[in-house]
Formats: sequence, structure tokens, C-alpha cells
Amino acid sequence: MKPLRKAVLPVAGLGTRFLPATKAVAKEMLPVVDKPLIQYAVEEARAAGIEQFCMVTGRGKTALVEHFDIAFELEDTLRARGKHDALALLEGTQVEPGSMVTVRQQVPLGLGHAIWCARAFIGDDPFAILLPDDLVLSETPCLKQLADAYTETGGNVVAVTEVPRAHTNRYGILEIGRDDGRLVEVKGLVEKPLPDEAPSNLSIIGRYVLMPQVIAELSRMDRGAGGEVQLTDGMARLIGRQPFHGLRYEGRRFDCGDKAGFLEAQIAFALKHKDLAPAVRAFLRRYAND
Ligand code: UTP
Repeated sequence: MKPLRKAVLPVAGLGTRFLPATKAVAKEMLPVVDKPLIQYAVEEARAAGIEQFCMVTGRGKTALVEHFDIAFELEDTLRARGKHDALALLEGTQVEPGSMVTVRQQVPLGLGHAIWCARAFIGDDPFAILLPDDLVLSETPCLKQLADAYTETGGNVVAVTEVPRAHTNRYGILEIGRDDGRLVEVKGLVEKPLPDEAPSNLSIIGRYVLMPQVIAELSRMDRGAGGEVQLTDGMARLIGRQPFHGLRYEGRRFDCGDKAGFLEAQIAFALKHKDLAPAVRAFLRRYAND
């Protein structure tokens, strides 16, 4: 079994649910407390043993690339002023030289198309996908949990969680085979099924470990839900040919592509900051009583 060392970070979406904030700034640069979404994703990937990153970008996304470069003037000024605490805050933004590449998705034709754009980077290797707008608060980083499950089962492993049946039309949904309460055998996958047509209410979240053969399936460019090239449809074509499992990860997921989910993430992550938590708790109590 090949080790998991590569991750694809698709960041070429339009982020329409966050307009006008995302007119000139990528959704993945929006901060949760003090870090942009993209940095949480890169840190999570590193903690899972990922060494090579590919961001699938589009127009107006250069800040995402800049974020992982050195900021010479800023760093030099901070050093000259003795602001070592501020300098230390930049550590998480530094990546190994040559370990992060970008490819361009000129037109956002869907998540499946974005992943297909990274095909030269993926080559013949297993790879992870992290959607930076899905943020997971957990003891063990979510992708590390998936990587461990991949070592156990081989093949494809996706992170899954139960969603209200009324919401199945927002997600990729599993048809379930054997289920031991943690690992679920995936028998089928459907993108955004209507609640009464959904085979279950177990949904995929934005963390995947996939085999490179998915690229051949995506290259068919079949249009699925919403007229987009759907990753779910490409993955579905691997079922029966390769092991395919869902992992009920430990942790809480926040859909930061959605305003309410994004605001909830701010609160949940702020409460994890020792210096912020008391103030946040105090104002939450105040608003709760209004
Ligand atoms: P979303 O479904 O959240 O779409 O994409 P979006 O465009 O970012 O946001 P809305 O729905 O318009 O508000 C999920 C992930 O897939 C990427 C996005 O950047 C995000 O990380 N994506 C989506 C692409 O890279 N390319 C696409 O064509 C579509």
C-alpha cells in the first residue's frame, strides 16, 4: 500500500454565499478567529503526514498563494522591532520550499473538475482532499483519522456524518453496506438526493482519501447535480472495484461555506482560545438574555 503524502486543496469556487465579502477575497482566506480557513486545512494535512500540497485556484486567489510565502518586509520589520511573539505567529504559514504547487481551474465547473485539474500532481499516488470551508474541531485531526483508517482498509476512505434527512439535498449521501458503527462499507453514492430519495442520511464531509483511478472517471466530464462535474459521481464509479469506506470521524464539523456555520465556528474556536474564552462566554450570556 502506498503511503499517503499528497493533498489537493480545491479553492477555485466562487463563494457566492459569502458575497460581497468574497468579491475580491477568496472564501478560504476568511479567518476563523485569527487564522484563514486555508491555514487550518494545511495544518490539519501536515498533522496527517502530508508533505506535498496542490491548491486548485482560480482568478483573484493570489492571496492564498502569498499566505504560504515569506513576507520579507513584514518579517524584517517585526524582527527589527523585536516583536518575536508576532513573528512566531507566522510559523504555521511556512511550508517546505517546493512542497506547494498551484494549478488553475479557469472555469469553476464543479468539484470533480477541480480535482481533475490536479491530475498531473496526483499521478499514480493515493491522495487526500481537504475542502477548506469544512472545518473540524476534534481531538485527533480529522484527516489523521482518515489516514489511519486508510492504513487499516486500503482503498478509498471518506469522512462521514449523519445529517438531518431534510438536508440530504445539500450533500453527497452514502448507500450503506456493512457498518460497525465507525467504519461503513460504501455501496453507493448519490450527490444531493431529495430527502425521500436519499439512500441514508449519512453524508460525506470535505475530507477524502482517494485512489488515483478516480481521475480516469472524472475525465469523462459527466455533468451531475447542478450541471457540475461532481466528485461524488466519479467516486461512485470506483465502488465494487476498490475498497470504499466511510469513517464516522470523532469531532464536530462546521460548514464555513455557510454563514450560520461560519459564525458557529467562530464561537466554537474562540472558546478554545484560553485568552478569548472568558470574554466570549460573557458576551454570549449577554446576547442569550436579550
Ligand atoms: P462549494 O460547493 O462550497 O462552492 O465548493 P463555492 O463556489 O466555494 O461556494 P458557493 O456555494 O458559491 O457559496 C466546495 C469546495 O470546492 C471548491 C470550492 O472552492 C470549495 O473549496 N470548488 C468548487 C472548486 O475548487 N471548483 C469548483 O468548480 C467548485
